[in-house]
Amino acid sequence: RAASAATAAAFDFPELAAGIDEHLHVAEGYAAQPLLRWGDPLFADAPAFDPRRQNAAAQERQFGYNNDFVGFIPLDAAGQRGLLVVNHEYTNAELMFPGLNAVDRKGVIAALSPDQVAVEMAAHGGSVVEIVREAEGWRPVVGSLYTRRITATTPIDLTGPAAGHPRLVTEADPSGRRVLGMINNCSGGVTPWGTWLSGEENINYYFAGALPDAHPEAGNAKAMGMGSLQYAWSRFHPRFDLAQVPNEANRFGWVVEIDPFDPASAPKKRTALGRFKHEGAAGARALDGRYVVYLGDDERFQHVYRFVSDGRVQPERGGNADLLDSGTLSVARFAPDGTGRWLPLVHGRDKLNAENGFASQADVLIETRRAAKLMGATPMDRPEDIEANPRTGRVYVMLTNNGKRTAAQEEPANPRGPNAFGHVIEIAPDGTDHGAETFRWEVLVRCGDPSKPEVRASFSALTTENGWFGMPDNCAFDGRGRLWIATDGNNRRATGRADGIWAVETEGPRRGTARHFLRVPVGAEMCGPCFTPDDETFFVAVQHPGEPDEEGALGSYEMPSTRWPDFSPDLPPRPSVVAVTRKGGGRIA
Ligand code: FEO
Ligand code: CA
Ligand code: CA
Ligand code: CA
Repeated sequence: RAASAATAAAFDFPELAAGIDEHLHVAEGYAAQPLLRWGDPLFADAPAFDPRRQNAAAQERQFGYNNDFVGFIPLDAAGQRGLLVVNHEYTNAELMFPGLNAVDRKGVIAALSPDQVAVEMAAHGGSVVEIVREAEGWRPVVGSLYTRRITATTPIDLTGPAAGHPRLVTEADPSGRRVLGMINNCSGGVTPWGTWLSGEENINYYFAGALPDAHPEAGNAKAMGMGSLQYAWSRFHPRFDLAQVPNEANRFGWVVEIDPFDPASAPKKRTALGRFKHEGAAGARALDGRYVVYLGDDERFQHVYRFVSDGRVQPERGGNADLLDSGTLSVARFAPDGTGRWLPLVHGRDKLNAENGFASQADVLIETRRAAKLMGATPMDRPEDIEANPRTGRVYVMLTNNGKRTAAQEEPANPRGPNAFGHVIEIAPDGTDHGAETFRWEVLVRCGDPSKPEVRASFSALTTENGWFGMPDNCAFDGRGRLWIATDGNNRRATGRADGIWAVETEGPRRGTARHFLRVPVGAEMCGPCFTPDDETFFVAVQHPGEPDEEGALGSYEMPSTRWPDFSPDLPPRPSVVAVTRKGGGRIA
């Protein structure tokens, strides 16, 4: 081909046709192999998946539900063996259990039995799975010494400045340092020292009970969205009832650090990284070697955060055991002129004092959202994943949408009200230093259909009718620093296409050009994109396949919108991690 270097596309896979049906589709020349499905046995003694007899003891030994974040940690130099670390964000009871026949969420909550709730709790959390690449493809090593399930009942330490604070103490845990379980773990990150960071997101769905206005935790509960119950757990476990155990909710909403090399180690909720609806926790190194974690708070009008450790990353794994327990959490202000600043959330500085109800750094961290608003952070359109390009040092923020932003609330960093399709912001840290206090930013792309002027999308003119997308959510960079975006919210009505993966050019004259690579079955969203270090395998997570293709409607076990990936009348649809490779081998192009 005659294209010059300046105009050459970074991507040259044949573009996939956008659309929506029961199947997963990937660009021609690529293969997509379901690698881990809900219910797959992980331990040698794990029973085979039997959805009509599912129970908590089996589920604790099997792959969990609704795989979201996926991280790959190589175990050999060639990258043919590694640990896959996977978040299990939530459960869809109506798709998991036969015969619920409930028409709405309240009906599901009322119908669930204690045993079914125990299955749900065991299907939450995360999995560590050793995988190997063989001639036929990747396979899980059932019974590997690394195998681990973390659930909603696993003992987890609370560490850092808020650990042990009276607001984290309950009758069951007078120390305020040990909580049972992690829940709604959405996206995450893998650290250079080989641990897994996992963000607890919509914790409000699990807590019943209202607090009286005069209760000291009432404002905090409201700020976290309590009062929108989606789960039955509080019917059988009083700790999920705010009226009975008001402090229990303060023990959720953190970033959890897990050592996948030591299955006996207690995971750690790192309170220094703040408490809010955590999406991801991808990181990068500051020029001086401190570790930086970028953090999104996924709710309308919430914020973009950054944590910078006090210490530097050490070459030995053990040297980083407590690195994330001390450092500075900051929140972003995006000025209209394209500059920006990280505002430190440090007790005693500016308004973060006793007069405003912050007696200590623990208070600042437990009520991070209130602290951020007091400091003048920019309210954003649902910040999801944030990832740094390892090649350029520029940072990309997925802003998924915001139907509640009004035209009067339009401003340069959130330029559409309402924002139905989301946008991507590119941040250039000053001095290409992730530790710098200031940055420049611009909108990389406003998402949505470019053929509709009223949408005000801004994909490049080279983007085809298959190449545009809405609702960016997760993202990943491959080894060449190319950006791949996963979406959540495309469907027949919203965009006439399924969620999936789009590759997006960030450099040169093709900047802002998107190209369609993969799409998920109806009802699913696309999560977890992650490359092996050789770029030969692209892991993607298909979440909640089989939901109805309309907002708010409930699916059912008996009549799911798809039975992917098994397509057996005896099996429900199953959330699964899929390994994508190039037919005949080679890098994903
Ligand atoms: Fe769990 Fe923000 O998606
Ligand atoms: Ca999700
Ligand atoms: Ca997400
Ligand atoms: Ca989402």
